[in-house]
Amino acid sequence: MEKLRIIGGHRLSGNVRISGAKNAVLPILASSLLTSGELVLHNVPNLADVRTMLKLLEGMGVKIDREGETVKLCASNVTSTVAPYELVKTMRASILVLCPLATRFGAARVSLPGGCTIGARPVDQHIQALRRMGADVQIDHGFVDLRCGRLSGRTIVTDMVTVTGTENIMMAAVLAEGRTVIENAAREPEVVDLANCLRAMGARIAGDGTSTIVIDGCEELHGAEHTVIPDRIEAGTFAAAAAATRGDVTLQNVDPEALSVVLDKIREAGAEIETGPDWIRVKMDRRPKAVSIRTEPHPGFPTDMQAQIMALDCVSEGLGRITETIFENRFMHVPELQRLGADIEVEGHTAIVRGVRQLQGARLMATDLRASASLVIAALAAEGESIVDRIYHLDRGYDGMEVKLRALGADIRRFRE
Ligand code: UD1
Repeated sequence: MEKLRIIGGHRLSGNVRISGAKNAVLPILASSLLTSGELVLHNVPNLADVRTMLKLLEGMGVKIDREGETVKLCASNVTSTVAPYELVKTMRASILVLCPLATRFGAARVSLPGGCTIGARPVDQHIQALRRMGADVQIDHGFVDLRCGRLSGRTIVTDMVTVTGTENIMMAAVLAEGRTVIENAAREPEVVDLANCLRAMGARIAGDGTSTIVIDGCEELHGAEHTVIPDRIEAGTFAAAAAATRGDVTLQNVDPEALSVVLDKIREAGAEIETGPDWIRVKMDRRPKAVSIRTEPHPGFPTDMQAQIMALDCVSEGLGRITETIFENRFMHVPELQRLGADIEVEGHTAIVRGVRQLQGARLMATDLRASASLVIAALAAEGESIVDRIYHLDRGYDGMEVKLRALGADIRRFRE
């Protein structure tokens, strides 16, 4: 199994190019199932989750041509509407093929994603919406088994804000008959990016980016070309790493607007932040001050940045309160951070972090994608050597993280034991 060896204590400095957004590209790849035309995507990051989605689509008969960061997909000859357990179990976002299959082919058999380390994460909202739109959906031997004629547009009010739920319902609605209104819709920039891609394919969608999305169904969609937005979570992770190591890093190919709540917190921690149209400079020349955050759906503080800000608080001055409201079990990184000498106490959904002057390198185990990123940040700021195990979690969502960090002056190597 591959691991990372990190010798901490080096200030990060220089420029880093941010890749395309994982959470935008996954639904957009799934949307290729909605048309027999060719979908050409640019700025596609090289991630394990992207490879899993491409494998899933290829297994259904989608023709895929990948060259660097450009991927061409053509679903003119789909031969299977099954998403097998072996692929779905490694990536919950596989559920995003359910609605495109339903609305274009009237049939789907998609393995139910199980629980995952950060919580139960059911997909009941996706299923309820499809039933309301006229689909017959059964749970059969661990699979969502679906049959339907043309889906009917409806008003769907989701019980909670769900990102992939909103995206799936939007994809069901683009080929449904009549108008669908999604109330309580997720407002994440990744939802907007999917809407932009679907519009380029001919879909009629309005209101994305707000909590009411209105979709008028079309008979069919056509091929299109689209560039995926930059990954705001990857950008936020590098910004937190720059602040924790008292570095000076310029993030390139980013949208500062999409990252404003995160940048506000890093600024509150004491960093100087400058932004341009597509770059952000984060400079920290003193010990950071601890900050408090509470995760919320967009435009609130993203849960996907919670662990990284906790790592920053671990080396800061003062006390920070980190409250997680989206997932019930997203503090798996706490015991690992404690192995580095962090002072953290968990009370229900809140972690109270008292910053220490110096963390000390240790052996660590990554437990999920963003937890891995927080361990890397803490290890970069710690004194001495850390080994981070199970980095396959990191590879799911970061494109060449250690290569990018090394170029910024970090002492970090991947090795196999
Ligand atoms: C997406 C992101 C993930 C991010 C999360 C929250 C992708 C591929 N992943 O995950 O990185 O951490 O949003 O911003 O975009 N829920 C239900 N029933 C449902 C759907 C959701 O109970 O049918 C609950 C979940 O258990 C969770 C909450 O709603 O507690 C929000 O989850 P959701 O927004 O759906 O997360 P994902 O879309 O899976």
